[in-house]
Amino acid sequence: MQRTTDSNLKITGQRAADDAAVSETPGGEMLRDFWYIALRSSEVKGNNLKTAMLLGVPLVVGRDLEGRPFAMRDSCPHRGIPLSFGHFDGRQIECCYHGWRFDSATGQCREIPSLAAASKLKVERIFADSFPCEEQDGYVWVYMPASNLRAREAPPAPRLPVFSPRYRLTHLSAELPCSVDHGVIGLMDPAHGPFVHRSWWWRSRRSIHEKEKVFEPIPGGFRIRAHAPSANSAPYKLLRVYGQPITSTIEFILPNMRLEEIHCGPYWFSSRAVVTPVKNDHCRIDFCAAWNIFPRMPFVVSVFRLFARKFLGQDQQTMIKQAVGLKHNPSLMLIDDADRPARWYFQLKAAYLDSLRTGEPMEHPIPDPVTLHWRS
Ligand code: FES
Ligand SMILES: [Fe+2]
Repeated sequence: MQRTTDSNLKITGQRAADDAAVSETPGGEMLRDFWYIALRSSEVKGNNLKTAMLLGVPLVVGRDLEGRPFAMRDSCPHRGIPLSFGHFDGRQIECCYHGWRFDSATGQCREIPSLAAASKLKVERIFADSFPCEEQDGYVWVYMPASNLRAREAPPAPRLPVFSPRYRLTHLSAELPCSVDHGVIGLMDPAHGPFVHRSWWWRSRRSIHEKEKVFEPIPGGFRIRAHAPSANSAPYKLLRVYGQPITSTIEFILPNMRLEEIHCGPYWFSSRAVVTPVKNDHCRIDFCAAWNIFPRMPFVVSVFRLFARKFLGQDQQTMIKQAVGLKHNPSLMLIDDADRPARWYFQLKAAYLDSLRTGEPMEHPIPDPVTLHWRS
């Protein structure tokens, strides 16, 4: 059994003799050097300052006069009062306590009103922490670096794959009272569907059957090879009206991202769910989906949102119940094959942290394609 992360992770309980079942309690370490979703784009308007939290770091988020988003630590470097209580003129934030002014793009201090003319203090050497910030797919993304890093060194923010010029796009989110690890392994868990997402319009417990899928390594994650969606899945039921072959590909990529693509002739559906680590014991699923199927159907976005909200709500309610149990720090199990993606997630995380520590390239924990079997 692989020990997954650092001291946050407790491996407790009895170890199963055959290693098919392992007991472990994920510790929720939040990975740095990645982009995370801070807010929806539509929430950041005009000269208003908004607050958000990522990886336990309080942020103040706004837009400059050109509409470019920015993010800073929501704390004045002078005496720690949140900058979000200050005033923003579209260029600089003025702290509400002593009026220090900070450039919104760089965090650089521009003015300290209390300084006398003879003061030697180098104002321009004072910075509020500022983070790379980009807008993509209707979200404001913030890059959370491992160390102090200037904006130009961050890679581009993630982008939802789309396959035609015209498409519909929608967003949903759900708050989860658990660590990012429980959020992620819940997202990748293939076995809860028939129990958590049971409903008359989709699937019943009786629809459980054995599944076999090939998983292959990709940089920073793994992919379920393109396959026909299972006959009890919602996309299959919808798309078979087109009478063309349907393929689905699902990927997981560190630190928190599940991507799914479904293609049926010229029609496609693409979705991304990320588990955003807000703080140690709280995360949020940010789900967005784009598609060009049923282009002429009225209310297609509303209907999709209705079902997706119900679906996400079922996951959320389950996580709320799970949090009741997790408060008592139980020992947990990951069993083969259904929980193998969860184990890979912990192994990927450990490999990533190792590579950060050593500076060596990340060693992928899944060297070759693997076929997994489970019932769902
Ligand atoms: S605390 Fe912000 S200027 Fe003093
Ligand atoms: Fe689910």
